[in-house]
Amino acid sequence: MKQWFKRLSGAVLAVVVVLAISAPTPQTFAAQSDQSALLSPADKILNIAHRGASGHAPEHTLAAYEKAVQMKADYIEIDLQMTKDGVLVAMHDETLDRTTNGTGYVKDHTLAEIKRLDAGSWFNRKHPDKANPTYVGLQVPTLEEILQTFGPEGHYYIETKEPGLYPGMEEELLRILAKYKLTGQDGRPPDVIIQSFSPHSLQKIHRLNPAIPLIQLMWYDPATPGKATITDAELNRIKQYAVGVGPNYRKIDQAYVVKVRRHGLLIHPYTVDDAKDMKRLLDWGVTGLFTGYPDVLRDVLKSGKV
Ligand code: G3P
Ligand code: CA
Repeated sequence: MKQWFKRLSGAVLAVVVVLAISAPTPQTFAAQSDQSALLSPADKILNIAHRGASGHAPEHTLAAYEKAVQMKADYIEIDLQMTKDGVLVAMHDETLDRTTNGTGYVKDHTLAEIKRLDAGSWFNRKHPDKANPTYVGLQVPTLEEILQTFGPEGHYYIETKEPGLYPGMEEELLRILAKYKLTGQDGRPPDVIIQSFSPHSLQKIHRLNPAIPLIQLMWYDPATPGKATITDAELNRIKQYAVGVGPNYRKIDQAYVVKVRRHGLLIHPYTVDDAKDMKRLLDWGVTGLFTGYPDVLRDVLKSGKV
């Protein structure tokens, strides 16, 4: 994976050439494996553990990330919020209420206050079939604690959540990544992917460090009927700073996937927990999936020999 980014550009070029010669048509998962053989091994389809292996353990705890690593996910996904005293912590929501025994906004609490909260018991209550006494009392981890735990060999797929709430979030993220030598310094490729729904946040990161691969997350209102579309103009704009897009899998169809790939961009839909959905999306040509069940995706990928 250390060669991931270096080999990415060549592999993306290979995809573009393949797609230019022969426009993608509906194909089986197995047939797609043949096409994948043309790609660099480093460009294998990415198994991205959504909030860690969050189908098995409380999201965004070290326990969920450890399970993801055990299940051989390629990346652990980390959503970031920022505390009152400016510390980046892993949490999906901007408030503490859903996944801890605290209440209120993360931004209104210091790290010391947040560290006193229990970020695991809610999972045992919500999923009694998967409850584990060791989850009781788990803490909200800081980004630095995660990087210290999984080290330079870990692969991190980090989202700047609510960047409008946290001025300076991008600078702090890049400072920490540089401290742990994850930003491609010393001639090494970056060991991170950064994602956001905010184009402004990604464009800022791209200005600060153009070597880091970025994924533009796409929000489509689930209440809107029909499938989402994406225009050539949108894709051309995204290509200025990002290497791919991450749409809600429920809102896309094969035409969407084909269009993105024709533009030479990666596509990592979220959040796909069912094996049948995974297979369908892989047949369409996605290049990675966010899942709370990296073990299920690993088995699907094995069955398709991708
Ligand atoms: O980052 C991919 C996916 O996680 C986006 O949705 O709300 O789960 O962060 P969300
Ligand atoms: Ca996310």
